[in-house]
Amino acid sequence: MKKRIMSGMRPTGKLHLGHYLGVLKNWVKLQDEFDCFFSVADWHALTTKYDKTEDLEQNVLEVVMDWLACGVNPEKATIYLQSLVPETAELHIYLSMITPQNWVERDPTLKDMAKILRTKEGVNSQIGYGLMGYPVLMSADIMTFNADYVPVGSDQVAHVEITRDIARRFNNIYNTEFFHEPEPKLNNCALICGLDGNKMGKSYCNDIKISDSEEETTKKIMKAITDRSRIKKDDLGHPDECEVVYKYWKIFGDENQIADINDRCSKGVMGCAECKRALAERVNSELREIRERRKYYENHLDEVRAIIKDGSLRAQKEAQIILSEVRKLVKMYKG
Ligand code: TRP
Ligand code: SF4
Repeated sequence: MKKRIMSGMRPTGKLHLGHYLGVLKNWVKLQDEFDCFFSVADWHALTTKYDKTEDLEQNVLEVVMDWLACGVNPEKATIYLQSLVPETAELHIYLSMITPQNWVERDPTLKDMAKILRTKEGVNSQIGYGLMGYPVLMSADIMTFNADYVPVGSDQVAHVEITRDIARRFNNIYNTEFFHEPEPKLNNCALICGLDGNKMGKSYCNDIKISDSEEETTKKIMKAITDRSRIKKDDLGHPDECEVVYKYWKIFGDENQIADINDRCSKGVMGCAECKRALAERVNSELREIRERRKYYENHLDEVRAIIKDGSLRAQKEAQIILSEVRKLVKMYKG
């Protein structure tokens, strides 16, 4: 039997290169080796965006199209929508009963989210009961499939730690060994920064989307910051002080290309414009196939919807097996 993996993303819209390099490439590898469940966490999106739901459906589709484009394969992995597996909501209730309040209160990622919310105006600056339950709901996601591993970014590790604590507590209280203590699986790839040198994120307008056209990609890269001490083409360059472009080369180029860029930049025989144009071509060629696949799905939305539906049914079947065991363990009325 293959070990189980569960992971998810909130449907926040079109994904960018950070998601592709940091998450999706990894998922595509994992789907061959593990029994994978990948969730579009639409309930998690509601914890902060409950009053901005007009784009929710479109965002679910965008995220799934990006997954499919990057090679997540619905025949290997189960791609599903969180809210189409209501068993997770039921499990969330059981878990919420056994989770001490101070476990969620000390969750560092939640504290950050709350801090950001508090700086906003209006009704949405309230920290809702649902948001407090964010890590418990995430635990329910993971435990709905009794997963062994959870691939996540470092900001989500605290949540997986809470999941381990909750799973252990459930086992203690109900005198069982039913739930695994899932382990976070950190991705060890280099983090790609945004085009301005800060963390890549859509709210910073410094990202390259998987779905951007080649022209858009080139335009964005041409505007990226470079070695600031370099004004003229034949000024000697300092690749290591080139905060974005050279870093991108190190991610997208092969060894020879990187050495060549380093050499020509340091000797002042290649201008930054030329260097960026070459980088854009490199990035575009890496993404070409992915973007073609995405175009296909954009033109076949019915297929995307069917994949979400089928995957969610498959996920629900597994979830029902787990939940019937949980009800037994909690000693709920059988009827
Ligand atoms: N909270 C995660 C994030 O924002 C998304 C998520 C929801 C998730 N459910 C999950 C990740 C279960 C791993 C496992 O990135
Ligand atoms: Fe950066 Fe390339 Fe310009 Fe060198 S030539 S400073 S690596 S953009």
